[in-house]
Amino acid sequence: MNAAETGLPIKAITAGQPLVLRLRQPEDVVPDVSTEWDHWPDDSLPSPSHDAPVRLVIEWGDRIVGTMSWHATDYGPTQGSRAWNIGIALTPDARGQGIGSTAQRMLAECLLTFSERVEASTDITNIAEQRALERAGFTREGVLRSAQHRGDGLHHDLVLYSLVRRDLNGGAPSTASRP
Ligand SMILES: CC(C)(COP(=O)(O)OP(=O)(O)OC[C@H]1O[C@@H](n2cnc3c(N)ncnc32)[C@H](O)[C@@H]1OP(=O)(O)O)[C@@H](O)C(=O)NCCC(=O)NCCS
Repeated sequence: MNAAETGLPIKAITAGQPLVLRLRQPEDVVPDVSTEWDHWPDDSLPSPSHDAPVRLVIEWGDRIVGTMSWHATDYGPTQGSRAWNIGIALTPDARGQGIGSTAQRMLAECLLTFSERVEASTDITNIAEQRALERAGFTREGVLRSAQHRGDGLHHDLVLYSLVRRDLNGGAPSTASRP
C-alpha cells in the first residue's frame, strides 16, 4: 500500500477545532512529543524486523500537536495477512481532550481500506493509551509478555489491541471468526 493512496490528509473536528492527519514533510517543525516511553537501549536500534514506518503529523487548530506512524506487521506469507500497526504521541498540552482517541480511530478507519486488521500495542502501565484505544473502539486482545526492551534494561509486557474491518460493518463474519 502506497501512503499516497490512503486519502490523507483526513479531517475531523475535535474539542471545537479542526483536527488534521497528514503525512509528515521534511519542513515540518514538530514539537517535542517524547515521553517516559521513549527510552530505548542503544543496542537494539534500529530493529530490522519492520519496514520503515510511515510518519504523520497531527494538526489541531493552527499547530502541530503530535505525531503518528504506521508500519506493517505480517501474520503470514501472503499480502492478505498483513496488518498495520499504529503509534501516536501528543504534546503534553494537547492530551486529555479527545485528540488521541479520535486520531487513532481516524487513522485506523483509513488503513482498514487496505487491510482487514489495524493494531496497536502499548506498555502495560500506559493506562492513558489503553483508555484512548478503547474509546476509539479497539478491542483488547491480550498481553504480550516481555515483548519490548526498554531503556531501563527490562523487557516490558505490552497490551495488544486491534480494530478489524468487521468491527466497522456490523459484525460481518470473516473466515477466521467461523467455528
Ligand atoms: C496516550 C495518548 C495518545 C492518549 O491521547 P489523549 O488525547 O490524551 O486521550 P483522550 O483525551 O482521547 O482520552 C481517551 C481516554 O483516556 C483517558 N485518559 C487520558 N489521559 C489519561 C491519563 N493520563 N490517565 C488515565 N486516563 C487517561 C481519558 O479520560 C479518556 O477516557 P474515557 O474514554 O474513559 O473518557 C496521549 O496521552 C499521549 O500522547 N501520551 C504520551 C505518548 C504515549 O503514551 N503514546 C502511546 C505510546 S504506545
